[in-house]
Amino acid sequence: MADDSLFIGKSTKPEVLALKFGNRHGLITGATGTGKTVTLQVLAEGFSNAGVPVFAADIKGDLSGVAAMGESKPFIVDRAKQVDMPWAPAQFPVVFWDLFGEQGHPIRATISEMGPLLLSRLMDLNDTQQGVVNILFRYADEKGLLLLDLKDLRAMLAELGSNKELQNELRAAYGNVSAQSVGAIQRQLLTLENQGGAQFFGEPALILKDLMRTDRDGRGTINLLAADKLMGSPQLYATFLLWLMSELFQELPEVGDVDKPKLVFFFDEAHLLFNDAPKALIEKIEQVVRLIRSKGVGIYFVTQNPLDVPDTILAQLGNRVQHALRAFTPRDQKAVKAAATTFRQNPQLNTEEVITQLGKGEALVSTLEGNGVPSMVQRTLIAPPTARIGPVTVEERRQIINQSPMKGKYDEVVDRESAFEVLQKRHQDEQAPAPQEADAGGLGGLLGSILGGGSAPAGKGGRTRMTTSEVVIRNAAGSIARSVGTQIGRALIRGVLGSFRR
Ligand SMILES: Nc1ncnc2c1ncn2[C@@H]1O[C@H](COP(=O)(O)OP(=O)(O)OP(=O)(O)O)[C@@H](O)[C@H]1O
Ligand SMILES: [Mg+2]
Repeated sequence: MADDSLFIGKSTKPEVLALKFGNRHGLITGATGTGKTVTLQVLAEGFSNAGVPVFAADIKGDLSGVAAMGESKPFIVDRAKQVDMPWAPAQFPVVFWDLFGEQGHPIRATISEMGPLLLSRLMDLNDTQQGVVNILFRYADEKGLLLLDLKDLRAMLAELGSNKELQNELRAAYGNVSAQSVGAIQRQLLTLENQGGAQFFGEPALILKDLMRTDRDGRGTINLLAADKLMGSPQLYATFLLWLMSELFQELPEVGDVDKPKLVFFFDEAHLLFNDAPKALIEKIEQVVRLIRSKGVGIYFVTQNPLDVPDTILAQLGNRVQHALRAFTPRDQKAVKAAATTFRQNPQLNTEEVITQLGKGEALVSTLEGNGVPSMVQRTLIAPPTARIGPVTVEERRQIINQSPMKGKYDEVVDRESAFEVLQKRHQDEQAPAPQEADAGGLGGLLGSILGGGSAPAGKGGRTRMTTSEVVIRNAAGSIARSVGTQIGRALIRGVLGSFRR
């Protein structure tokens, strides 16, 4: 196989994906059980072999087998023969990630990095509440308060909700912050915490370079995000992937046209991204998808039905693999028709009819060719993967995690001083009672109000007064926090998805 393309399968000729068009995005669709995940695996293997790192969500865990040696089972060997592929078993360099830190290295982001727009989406806030979150970010930025984890956010909300003086100050500068809106946000925050959001926010935050590694043999690392449990919180799943996309967009340098992508990103169950997404968000996604190309990143959406993806985004997905669709109901038939019309037609094929007749691991394929035009659609038998089809065992996963190049880097949480600690100390300073009243209930009550709920771990400490050296340390830390805070603030305003200027 030529090394400027990766092999997808065979129609009347070999069907390939040109690496130089790998950043022109793609779409894998088809009804359940038709071969989408295996196709994703074939593409991921091809990109890895070409030295391109991959990031993919592993919804059912069945993509994890790409880390294990393939077996020459009869149906695999037969398929290889049918598509004229010299088949040899292989396994690929995989790094497992997990927002919950159970089936892979934890992935974390800070509240600041997530930004007000995505955070509001994550908590399902209305416009008024989102306005409050914007104000909260601005205020934190101005005061040099770092927003790292959920307890920072909680402490800031409590401050906004209870400090009348602050409310008046903010009203004059930015607009109204009603205790009612703050209360509503606090309740939504609780829901987010119950979904496991607390683990996702904090440090050490993910460094994007760690997703863009190649192994000693020059193969691209395949990063797999455990998403089975995550799918229980679709909003968290979709927002996380969106955040990752926007981070890549913000952080990576412009590279223009490339021989091969810098990273390929597979977005499985993509309909979750667009389901009741507000128009403003869809426009942002459309913008990121359009512009991220020049950063050398290819985005591949995987979903059952092409109608799941908004037209403006669909139009930008150059490489298409359409597996079988059913046509039982009128709605199904409409989807088939729509799917058929997205291809450059082939006079030899009745596309609409073929879509319903495709077998497992068979698809209509069209990729970009020449100077970037879609190839004529072809009925294609998809190549078999060379690694295992199906999941790794728990034990295999454990071993891979243990030998991972990321081992130790993200596994432990680091909790440095941020808004929560600063606000807590400030209140301690202001209200410090006489030393003999240490451990007074009044302090607990005060902390309770700062933390907005009394479940404050810090309330237990009952320390009232800082020693001189503590004050010095606090002031030093405060000024560091301020400078870092301002930087993050700039990052927020710069970002496409992170920014929300009024
Ligand atoms: N290219 C292929 N080569 C060999 N076998 C294949 C190929 N594609 C699919 N198959 C067979 O079909 C089965 C189902 O494929 P797959 O799991 O990819 O479907 P899916 O569309 O992802 O389904 P779901 O929507 O349920 O996730 C595979 O387990 C495999 O046995
Ligand atoms: Mg699947």
